[in-house]
Amino acid sequence: MKASAFWFGFSARWSAASLAGIAILFAALLAPAPALADDDASARVTFTKDILPILQGNCQNCHRPLRVGFAGMVAPMPLMTFEEVRPWAKSIAKVVQSGEMPPWSAAEHQRGVFENERFLTDEEKSKIETWVRSGSPRGNSEDAPPPLKISEKKWWLGEPDLVLELPEPLWVADDVVDWQPMVPIKLTAEMLPEDRWLRGMECVPDSESVHHIVIYPFGKGIKRDRGSGGVGGTIGGLAPGAEPTLSTNGHGYLLTTGMTLGVSMHYHKEAVEGTGSWDQSKIGLFFYPKDAEVLETHVAPVGTMDFEVPAGDPNYELKMSDTFERPIHLLSMLPHMHFRGKAAKYEATYPDGSTELLLDVPAYDYDWQHSYQFAEEKHLPAGTKIDVTMWFDNSADNPANPDPTQPVGFGLATDDEMAFGWMAYSYDDEKPRTALAPAEIAAQASE
Ligand code: HEC
Repeated sequence: MKASAFWFGFSARWSAASLAGIAILFAALLAPAPALADDDASARVTFTKDILPILQGNCQNCHRPLRVGFAGMVAPMPLMTFEEVRPWAKSIAKVVQSGEMPPWSAAEHQRGVFENERFLTDEEKSKIETWVRSGSPRGNSEDAPPPLKISEKKWWLGEPDLVLELPEPLWVADDVVDWQPMVPIKLTAEMLPEDRWLRGMECVPDSESVHHIVIYPFGKGIKRDRGSGGVGGTIGGLAPGAEPTLSTNGHGYLLTTGMTLGVSMHYHKEAVEGTGSWDQSKIGLFFYPKDAEVLETHVAPVGTMDFEVPAGDPNYELKMSDTFERPIHLLSMLPHMHFRGKAAKYEATYPDGSTELLLDVPAYDYDWQHSYQFAEEKHLPAGTKIDVTMWFDNSADNPANPDPTQPVGFGLATDDEMAFGWMAYSYDDEKPRTALAPAEIAAQASE
C-alpha cells in the first residue's frame, strides 16, 4: 500500500508538471485553437466538482477518520479530503468498477427494491473512471460542496433510554483470531421496571477487535412461533457499515421485565503479540413513548442445522422452506452463512401459485451482514410459502475457505457453517398496542 501511494504521488507530479506541459505543447502545435477550450477546468471532471459529492453521498459514512462517527467502526482509511483520496484514486476506480465498493450484495436487477441499498449510478462510475484516467485533478476549491458534518457524539442516535454494558470486561487475548462468547444480560426490574417497545439500538464497541455484536432475546415475552430450529431471531446489533437507526414505521420489539438478552460478541483480529485488549462494549436501547401503539416485530429464519457441505464441493445447494399460516408484512431479510457462503435467494410462492423472487444475492460475502429492508411495504397473504436456497463453496478456489479438505456442517464457530434465511415481519391480523395495558399507563400517569 505504501509503495502504491508513493508511486501515485510521484506520477501525479509527473503528469501535473511535465505531461500537461507536453500535452499543451502538442495541442498548440497540432490542433486548431478551439481545442484548448476542452482543457478548461469547468469542463473537466475534477475532484472538487464531481468526485467529492459522490464520496460524500456514498463512501464517507464509512471512510471517515478513525474512531469518529457511528459506533466507532470505520473502513481502513478516511476518504474525506483530496490529499486522503488521491493516493487511492486507482484503487477506487477498480473497486467501484468491480462493484466491491460501496458494499452491497443484492443483484443489480433489484435496484430500487431496498431502502438501505448502496449503488453508484453508471454516470457516477464513469465520472470516477474519467477522473482517474485524466490524472485525478483537484479542480477549483470553490466548486467543492461544504464538507460533510460528522457527529463526534458518543451516541449517534442521542441519549439512550437504557444503557446496558457487558457485566464485566472481557480479555481478548493476543492469540485470539476469532472468539464468539455469548454474554447474557438480564433486564431486571431495576433496569426495566415495566415492559417497553424497543424502537432502536446502538452498540458502542470498546475494543478495535470487535467485529460485530448481535443481540438475541431469550426467555419471557418472546414467542418462538415458527420453526426457528431452536434459535431466536436477532433484534439488533452492530455490523460493519450499518448505521444504527430508529424505527419510523411504528414497528418494534417488545422487551419485558425479567427477560434476558443474549449478547453475541464476535471478536476478530490477527493473532499477533500486543494485539490483546479489554472489551466492555455498551448497548444503548431506545424506546417508544409509553403510550405509543406499536405493531410487534417478529424475527425468525427459514433455516436448518441439519446439513453437511461435502469437502471440496464448489457449489453445494441447500434448499429450505417454510409457510406463513397468517398474513404478514415482511420488513427485512438477512441471509446468514459463514466463510463458505456463496449465494442466496428468497422466493415466495403465493396461494394462487404465482411466484416472486424476493431477494437475490449472487455473491454473498460473510464480511457484510447486510439486512435487506424493503423500501415499500411487502404484504404476503396467509399460506405464502418461502423458499430459501443457499449455495456454498467448500473448494480450495474459495479464498475465504478455512479448510477445503473437510466436510462442514452447522456450528457456532465461524469455521463451521450456518444456513439461516432471517426474516423480520409483523402479522397483518395483529393490531398496534401499547406495551402495558392502557389502565396501567393511566394509573401511572395519575400517580
Ligand atoms: C459500509 C461501509 C463502507 C462504504 C459505504 C464504503 N466502503 Fe470502502 N471499504 C470499507 C471497508 C470496511 C473496507 C476494508 C476492506 C473490506 O473489509 O472489504 C473498504 C475498502 C475500500 C478500499 C480499499 C480496497 C483495497 O484494495 O484495499 C477502497 C479503495 C474503498 N473501500 C473505496 C470506497 C469507495 C470509493 C466507496 C464509495 C463509493 C466506499 N469505499 C464505500 C467500507 C466501506
